[in-house]
Order: sequence, then C-alpha cells, then structure tokens
Amino acid sequence: MKQTAILAIDQGTTNTKALLVGAAGNVLARASRPVQRRYPRPAWVEQDPLELWQSVLEASAACLEQGGSDVELVAVAISNQRESVLLWERANGRPLGPCVSWQCQRSRQLCQSLQDRGLEPFIRERSGLTIDPMFSGTKIRWLLEEQGLLARAEAGELCAGTIDSWLCWQLSGGAAHVCDMTNASRTQLFNLQRRDWDEDLLQLLGVPAAILPVVEPSAAIHARTVACGAIPAGLPLASLIGDSHAALFGQAGFLPGAVKATYGTGSSLMTPIPELRLSQSGLSATIAWAIGERVTYALEGNIYVTGAAVEWLGRFLGLSDPVVELAALADRVPDSGGLYFVPALSGLGAPYWDKEARGLICGLTQASTLPQLARATVEAIAYQVRAVFDAMQAEAGVELQVLLADGGATRNDLLMQFQADIIGKPVLRCESADVSALGAAYLAGLAVGLWASEEEIAALPRPRQRFTPTLSAEEREAHYSGWQEAVARATLHRS
Ligand code: G3P
Repeated sequence: MKQTAILAIDQGTTNTKALLVGAAGNVLARASRPVQRRYPRPAWVEQDPLELWQSVLEASAACLEQGGSDVELVAVAISNQRESVLLWERANGRPLGPCVSWQCQRSRQLCQSLQDRGLEPFIRERSGLTIDPMFSGTKIRWLLEEQGLLARAEAGELCAGTIDSWLCWQLSGGAAHVCDMTNASRTQLFNLQRRDWDEDLLQLLGVPAAILPVVEPSAAIHARTVACGAIPAGLPLASLIGDSHAALFGQAGFLPGAVKATYGTGSSLMTPIPELRLSQSGLSATIAWAIGERVTYALEGNIYVTGAAVEWLGRFLGLSDPVVELAALADRVPDSGGLYFVPALSGLGAPYWDKEARGLICGLTQASTLPQLARATVEAIAYQVRAVFDAMQAEAGVELQVLLADGGATRNDLLMQFQADIIGKPVLRCESADVSALGAAYLAGLAVGLWASEEEIAALPRPRQRFTPTLSAEEREAHYSGWQEAVARATLHRS
C-alpha cells in the first residue's frame, strides 16, 4: 500500500530543502540545493528569482526520486525566507529585477525619510513593526522607482510578491497571485488589526495596491499545481508560511506560554499571544499563523548577529573552518574569564534597536586567552537571546517555562547549556534540522485533513534534548549584569 505524504518545501536564504513528510510526521525523504546571494554594493544583497525557482524544482525532484513510487502525494507545503521580495510581469511571469533579500539595506534612505517625518509610531501601530529596510514594503518601492515601473504597476501589469507568493505563482502556472498572512505581516504594508493591506501604509510607502497579492490564511487550499518538473499536476498547494513562524508551529508551540528561538546567522524568538498587542519592550507584533478563519498573533524579537559573530571572529582570526574551530576553542575553558563580546556588527536589533551601536570586546586583562574570547562569543548569543526572552516574559502575561530551540547553532552543546543557565529555564533542543518544513507540512496536513487538530500534531513524535539550568540565581545575575554593562558601553555614541 502507498504511503500518504506531503511535499514540504523550505525555501531559505542559503538553500532550498524539500521533504516528504508522512502521516506519522516522519520524514520519508529529503533533499536540498544551495542558492547563491549577490552583493552588488556594500550592504546590498540580492538573489536570482529564477535560480530560486530552479532550486525548488531540483530539490523536489531529488526528494521525490528518493521517496520512490510507494508514496502518494496529498499536498504541497511551503515555508520560506521572509521579507525578501521581487516583481514580475503579470502577463508572462518574467521577473523584473532581482529578488531583493531581507538582508539588503538598499531602501535605507526611504526608511530614514519616513523616520524623519515622525511616522514611526503610526507605522508601528498599523503594521506592528519598527521602520527598517529589512521589511519588504520599502524594497518594493525601490524596485519600482529604480526601474521606472510605477506607471505599469498602477496599470496592474506587474505582480509583487514575497517568496511564498512567487513559488505559488510558479507552481500554479500563474493561476494564483497570493501570499499568506505571516509573509504579509512582514511587509510593513499589512494592517494587523484588519488583516488586509493598509491603504495609508501603501500610500506612505508609495506602493500601488494593484501589484499586491491576495492575502490568504497560512493553511488553506491556495491553488492546484500544474506539472512542474517531477511535481505532478493537480496537487493542492495547502500551506504558505514564513520560516520563523513555521518553526514555532513545527515545534508545536501553539499556545501562549510557548516560546521558540531559531539560532542561525541571526536569531528570531517568537511567542504566541492570546490577542493582538503592540510591544512596549522593543518586540514586533506579527501573525503567528492563520488556519482558515482562526488567526494566532505573536510577538517576535529579531537579533541581527548571533551565529554570524562566531563566523566573523573565526574569519578575523584566519581560521580555516571558522565556526567549527572557534566552537572547539570555546569548549576548552570553563568560563570567559570576565570577557564580554557585544557583537553589534550591524548595530543591535531587538530589544535594543540601536543602529549606531558598534561591536565591543571588554574585560580584557593580561591573563585573557583566545579560548576565553571564543567562549565570550558563544555566550554573546545566549545573552542576546536572554534579553529578548526577558522582554517577552514581561509582556506574555503567562510564565514562559521553557525555551524551544532550533536552527543550526543549536548543535553546539555549550551554547545550549549556557542558554539554559543564563535564562534560568530549561532549553529543549529540537533534534530535527527541518523544523520549518515540518511546520509547513503540519499546516498543509490540517488543510487537507491528514491531521484533524493541533492536539493531534502535538502528539506526533518530536525528539528533543533537554538542557537544565545549573547556575544559582546569584551567579546567573552576576554574569548577566556584566553583559548589560557591556551593552551600555557598546551603545554609548559620540556625536
Ligand atoms: O526573516 C528572515 C528569515 O526568514 C530568513 O530565514 O532561514 O532563510 O535565514 P533563513
């Protein structure tokens, strides 16, 4: 008998993964393809829209081949890098310009002018987001303006879309120009309260409504596939969701009190909240997911530089395998010997939000060693996560009892143990490297009836390793106050 499975695609910044997920939540097959980034100017980052699509076709084909003929596909699920955005021709799907990456700062000037006009509180109230070039809205405006496309955009000849939107367009053969609410909630054009594009925000950012996708729930039948490479025609495209939100869903963090941290080059913490609330502590408000008419809101904190600090220091020291060698150095010492490294290499994100902050190493003495500095770099990840965790705890309204951890850097045991020590709460490390794809698969499974409820999904096997705090409260706070002092110095500006 054939095994029922969902083809889950996770299109990320550095690679595209494809998974076949069975009805027991098990991964039946898995493949991935790398994708390139281009840096045409300092702080500009872009990708090739057709290469992204090609990587989806190739990863899916390899995965389906592994799955063999014993698999019966029931749906396609998509999780994706968020905030990255592109334009294409409505008539023929031809991309117009690059995909501007979420990491790209090219719309900084426009953001600055919005800030100078005192629009931050208004924009934040409507969209839940601070003004920042990371969000897609100002990137769309940049693409339209630079390419002289405003008139064509207003005439409805173009489509704008986040990556979920682009992939859904391709997979449906141009039948569906849609995106999901989680991706929409990261554009800075979306009204969180009304859950639709906000006319005032569109006007402020200069984006014509005619180019925007229809916003749909994360779990819903968005379209049917046409035959694309090895992907057969007629499959329901049953979920679209931003990867960070998908990770929370994949970790079964469905209810208030759950909080997850994804450890990558940067980090994102997210916690579901019972109703929409704007943060007073430097967090973003967002939509966690929408399942049909049921919408869950969340608070999110984005930290710019976490794993990237380890990579940066490793490269700075000329190590041939920066991340692995630096982690090994950090493992050689029991503590950082009073060293702190504030990796404000691109300013500081949540909860500090200081673009002018600069990186700082402090506490150096003649006895300081390289392993201690390596350890301070690993610890800096945990301190930054604690700062966001504390902000979430202050606003969550319920106790955050454990931290659900996922992402590449969680392989580092020292980091996980220090994280538990410094928040004083257990950390549960997700043993799957595919939690975003799994989250998207679960949502698609709900949409097509493979699973009946979140309770059923929560009961699926989910291997985790627990790290229990070992420091006393005094030791913990002594460490953390040292970090706070170091941050205060990193954010001291000279005018
Ligand atoms: O918000 C950016 C995030 O979605 C990127 O995720 O996994 O592609 O680095 P990733």
